[in-house]
Amino acid sequence: MQTRFERNVVDTIACDALIVAAFEEGAPKTGAGCDAQIQGLYESGECSGKKDELALLHAPQGLAAKRLLVAGCGKRESFDAPALRRTVAAAVRHLKGKSIRNIAFALDGSLQSDATAAAAVEGAILGDYEPDQLKTDKEKDGKRVDTFALAAPGSEPALEAAYARGVVLAESQNFTRDLVNAPANLMTPTRLAEHARAMAADAGLECEVLDREKMHGLGMGSLLGVAQGSAEPPVLILVKYRPEKAAGSDHLGLVGKGVTFDTGGISIKPSEGMEKMKYDMAGGAAVLGAMRAIAGLKPSIAVTALVPAVENMPGSKAQRPGDIVTTMNGKTVEVLNTDAEGRLILIDAFAYAQKQLGCTHMVDAATLTSSIVVALGHVHSGAFTNNQALLDRLFAVARAQGENMWQMPLDDDYKEQLKSAFADLPNIGTRWGGSITAAYFLKEFADPTPWVHLDIAGTAWLEEAKPHMAKGPTGVCVRSFAELALGWK
Ligand code: BES
Ligand code: ZN
Ligand code: ZN
Repeated sequence: MQTRFERNVVDTIACDALIVAAFEEGAPKTGAGCDAQIQGLYESGECSGKKDELALLHAPQGLAAKRLLVAGCGKRESFDAPALRRTVAAAVRHLKGKSIRNIAFALDGSLQSDATAAAAVEGAILGDYEPDQLKTDKEKDGKRVDTFALAAPGSEPALEAAYARGVVLAESQNFTRDLVNAPANLMTPTRLAEHARAMAADAGLECEVLDREKMHGLGMGSLLGVAQGSAEPPVLILVKYRPEKAAGSDHLGLVGKGVTFDTGGISIKPSEGMEKMKYDMAGGAAVLGAMRAIAGLKPSIAVTALVPAVENMPGSKAQRPGDIVTTMNGKTVEVLNTDAEGRLILIDAFAYAQKQLGCTHMVDAATLTSSIVVALGHVHSGAFTNNQALLDRLFAVARAQGENMWQMPLDDDYKEQLKSAFADLPNIGTRWGGSITAAYFLKEFADPTPWVHLDIAGTAWLEEAKPHMAKGPTGVCVRSFAELALGWK
C-alpha cells in the first residue's frame, strides 16, 4: 500500500472512497455538496454516528471521490487517537473487502493533532495487513489496498511529520507480524537472525549474532539447556541503536522471547493447538520491529534489542525434567518442567544485557504463560515490574498507542513457590498464579536493574478476525516500545 499526505481541500481528492468520521452529535460536514446527502442518511436513520457503524454513499455530490464512507465514531467527547486508529482500520478493511483499492481519509480540522494524524495512517496500514505471505492466490481471501491518502486540509507542517512517524511505526509493526506469522520450518533461530541482519542493514543498525560456542564461553547454561534438544542451533541476536547525540548515559535493553517453536520439550504439550506455538517468538519479533521503528525515528537514548532464539524440542539430546543448569550470572536452576523454557532463555539474555552491555533499564516481551491468558484473556498484556516509575512511563505511551496493558502483582509472598531442594531456584511454581511466579523468577535475575516484563501470550495472536484486524499476529508492543524510547528523558 502506498500512502500519501494531502493538504488539499477534500473535494478535490480523487479516490475510490473517501472516509469521513461521524459522531452521534450530528452529521459531519465536508463543506461540499454531499453534506446534504449525509444529512439525509442521518434523517433516514441509516446513519447515526454510533461506534462501528458504516454507511456507504455512491457518487457523493461535489467530491472528486467516487464514494463516501461515513464511519461512526460514537460520542465526540470519548473519541481519541486509539479510537480513530481502529475506526480507520475497520473502514479500510470494510472497503478492501469490496475490492475498493484507492482510499482516502478526511482528517477534519477539528480532529487534527499529531496523535490523530499518526493514528489514522497507522489504522490504514495495520488494517490492510493480511497474514497471507504464503498464499499463492492473495486475491482469494485477503484483498489489498493500493493507495491511502491522509487528507488534512489546511494543516500545520508538524502534522505531516506526525503522519510520517505513523507510517514508520505501523510498517514496523507489520514487519513484526510477518516474522511471527512465518511457520516454524521457515522461521528457525538461524532464519530469524538472518531477518534481523537484513532489517538492521536496511535500517542502518548494527547487528551481532552470538552462536552456541560463544554463548557456551559466556556461561549461558540456561539458554543452551533449552536449545540442546533441537537440531536447529540457538542464537542470541543483538541489534544496536546508538544515537548521534545521546541525551544522557541511559541504555535501554529490549529483550524478546524468541522460541521459534515450543513443543514443550520432554514435558511435551498436547498436540491439539500445538501448531500455534510458532508464535512463541512474538516477543523477539516485537523488539526487532521496535528497533526498525527506532532506526527511523532516532530517539536520543541508546537501545539494544536482545533476542535469545531457540527451538524447544524433545529428543535424545533434550534436557530432562530434574536437570540442573547454571545460568550466566552463576545461579543454578532446577528444570522441573521443560515447557517453562521462555524464562530460561530470557534470564541469560538479561545477564548479557547487564554484564556485557551495561543496560541501565530493561523491558522484555514474552509469550510466557498460559496463566496470563486465563487472567486477562486476549484484551490486556500482563505487566510486571521491579520499578514502578519505569512501568508508569511505559503505561503512558502504551495508553496513547491503544496497547492495553494491565499491571499484575509481584510481591515477595510469591517467592515461597520458588523453592528447590537441589538448586538455587526451580523454573516453575505451583499451578496458582502461574504468570506471577514466572515473572517473579525473571525478577530474581533482572534485579537490581529497573525492569518491566510484559507477558503477551494472550495479546500477540488474534484467534478470530476483528473488524479492524486480521486473524493472526498482532505485532503488539512494537509501537509502545518505540514510543518509550522516543519519549525517553
Ligand atoms: N509458550 C508457552 C506459553 C504460552 C501458552 C504462550 C499458550 C501462548 C499460548 C510457555 O513456554 C509455556 O509453555 N508455559 C507453561 C509454563 C508451565 C509449564 C509452568 C504454561 O504457561 O502452561
Ligand atoms: Zn513452553
Ligand atoms: Zn514457550
